[in-house]
Amino acid sequence: MVLAATRTEEEMQTEFLARIEAGEKIEADDWMPEEYRVALIKLISMHGISEIMGALPEKEWVPKAPSLRRKLGIMSKVQDEMGHGQLLLRVAEDLLKPYDRNRGDLMQDLFNGDLKFHNVFHMETKTWADAGLIGWLVDGAAIITQTNMLGASYGPYARALQRICAEEVFHAQHGESIILALAEGTAEQRAMIQESLNGWWESLLMFFGPASSNTTGSSKQDVTIKYRIRTKTNEQLRQDFFDKYIPRIQSLGLTIPDPTLRYNDEEKLWEYAQPDWSKFKKIIKNEGPRSQARLNLRRTSYEYNAWVRDALSAVID
Ligand SMILES: [Fe+2]
Ligand SMILES: [Fe+2]
Repeated sequence: MVLAATRTEEEMQTEFLARIEAGEKIEADDWMPEEYRVALIKLISMHGISEIMGALPEKEWVPKAPSLRRKLGIMSKVQDEMGHGQLLLRVAEDLLKPYDRNRGDLMQDLFNGDLKFHNVFHMETKTWADAGLIGWLVDGAAIITQTNMLGASYGPYARALQRICAEEVFHAQHGESIILALAEGTAEQRAMIQESLNGWWESLLMFFGPASSNTTGSSKQDVTIKYRIRTKTNEQLRQDFFDKYIPRIQSLGLTIPDPTLRYNDEEKLWEYAQPDWSKFKKIIKNEGPRSQARLNLRRTSYEYNAWVRDALSAVID
């Protein structure tokens, strides 16, 4: 007891890092450094809320899907994404306990702009090809970032990701199936996919976030790597995406809208034109093409459904 009481914060931090390096999982009630808790809350709440906001661009296509089969497919994908959001917000809620905050507070953070959602979900889904491309490439990109965290040191997040990633694979197949059908269709349908790719390419590059700066020591990605929440940097993940998807995109006869794109054989990496990162910053500050409309929709449905939460909490009390 005496020994435990005299352990300094620094010793606890060292023991904590040793546990992580030994591959042990950290659980919700374990002691954890503030830096670790804060990094997890930011990551998981942003991930959770992005799943919910990410259901909205495809939700727009449920009534307009071209067949009953496609309608059922996209509807169940939308349901899955909302489920992922609920699962992750519960994980975040456990981490928020010491601050006496909960999921309702996270939703308010979203509404007042303190909690960001992923850049891709601020964009428009103008055509059915956009709906397919989101499943194929946005979910494809999400699989790359999320499988990188399947071994995350925080047990509850790693376990939630196991289930989420399994479902994301279906989403990517659903999107690929839509794109393949269009690619085998008319010239107009093929042109629709090309137009969609042209519009989404920059957002897909931004999806992974800016590359790590070599000059600033402690970026967000460095903290998540230090605590083994993930293993790869933003740039490595973007390169993994290129490796997997550039050949697939080109095999459909599509042109990637970047004439500078090339594989550098010596350095074993893709060279590409950087997206406009100032645009990225504006988008995630809720100044994207559909940011306000989607936030309004979320706010309205959150208020409209308040009675369900009230009724449930009355039953539980
Ligand atoms: Fe998801
Ligand atoms: Fe998904």
